[in-house]
Amino acid sequence: MRTGTGLAVAAALLVAPMAAFGQPAATIEARQANFKAIARAFKTLNDELKGARPSVATLRRAAAELAQASQRIPNGFPPGTGPEAGVKTEALAAIWTNRAGFAEAANRHIAAVKALEAATQSGDLERIRAATQAVGPTCKACHDSFRLKT
Ligand code: HEC
Repeated sequence: MRTGTGLAVAAALLVAPMAAFGQPAATIEARQANFKAIARAFKTLNDELKGARPSVATLRRAAAELAQASQRIPNGFPPGTGPEAGVKTEALAAIWTNRAGFAEAANRHIAAVKALEAATQSGDLERIRAATQAVGPTCKACHDSFRLKT
């Protein structure tokens, strides 16, 4: 059984990067699901901070989920997964024509989320609040340049 599991894991590891390049639809759906997870975690943080007694454990968990998902953003946009893929996507062609700008927007966001994660470790609610507020503009900055306005 051990060998079987090992083979399955090896197969999964081989398939993952191939899917990123071989199946635009699957890649696009996966990155959209990842953005939904990002939005969900970010909403949890904001909702929790509005409460009378925010739970630091909940804030830590949501920040960790947000950090994990945010780090996946840069890999979600391989060539061939833009508007030309024929799949419903709000990704603008600018992502591929201005790769440096997109990478910078993603890195700014990831840095803000890492600072938020560190703030949740401190347990200081005012610090967590400020760090959460600093993340929102990094979402908007990327959407303004790289996501279709709907
Ligand atoms: C570096 C760029 C970038 C950053 C940072 C970013 N987004 Fe996005 N987001 C996009 C792009 C591009 C799409 C469109 C993806 C697609 O349709 O293929 C998108 C799509 C979305 C969607 C729609 C997902 C769907 O299809 O249902 C939501 C919700 C979203 N983002 C929320 C957020 C939130 C909240 C943040 C910050 C906490 C954030 N995003 C940060 C670029 C970004």
